[in-house]
Amino acid sequence: GAAVEVDISGLKEGEKLTVEWRGKPVWIIKRTPEQLKDLPALDAELADPQSLRHPEEFTPEYARNEARSIKPELLVVVGICTHLGCSPTDKFQAGPQPSLPADWKGGFLCPCHGSTFDMAGRVFKNKPAPDNLQVPPHMYLSDTKLLIG
Ligand code: FES
Repeated sequence: GAAVEVDISGLKEGEKLTVEWRGKPVWIIKRTPEQLKDLPALDAELADPQSLRHPEEFTPEYARNEARSIKPELLVVVGICTHLGCSPTDKFQAGPQPSLPADWKGGFLCPCHGSTFDMAGRVFKNKPAPDNLQVPPHMYLSDTKLLIG
């Protein structure tokens, strides 16, 4: 499919934009400084904190870093669970989840079989999802324009 150009000029801290790319939802999330600060602290709880599993499929080279992103604050991931393809919900939009502690530092919960992901799309340990959420191929055309695909 064709690449998708996205205007991200209106995206504010803590907000998520969803666009469609190759029939899949792609999330663009502007993380807060607090959310970025929490990422390294979660490594021990994650299945693949360094995104070393199937990197060619799930994490392009430019996103193989702690934040899994080109620009630290901007997360770009395919919003599809790597288990069986449900779409995870995000904690910060869906409100508190009964199955998660109120101070849970993660970002996303899959409603199908309970896989959880942090704010970099990294899957937590002992969950059915085998991989982190996919970072799609992307690049910034300017400060306000993102190209996905
Ligand atoms: Fe997400 Fe199974 S599809 S946990």
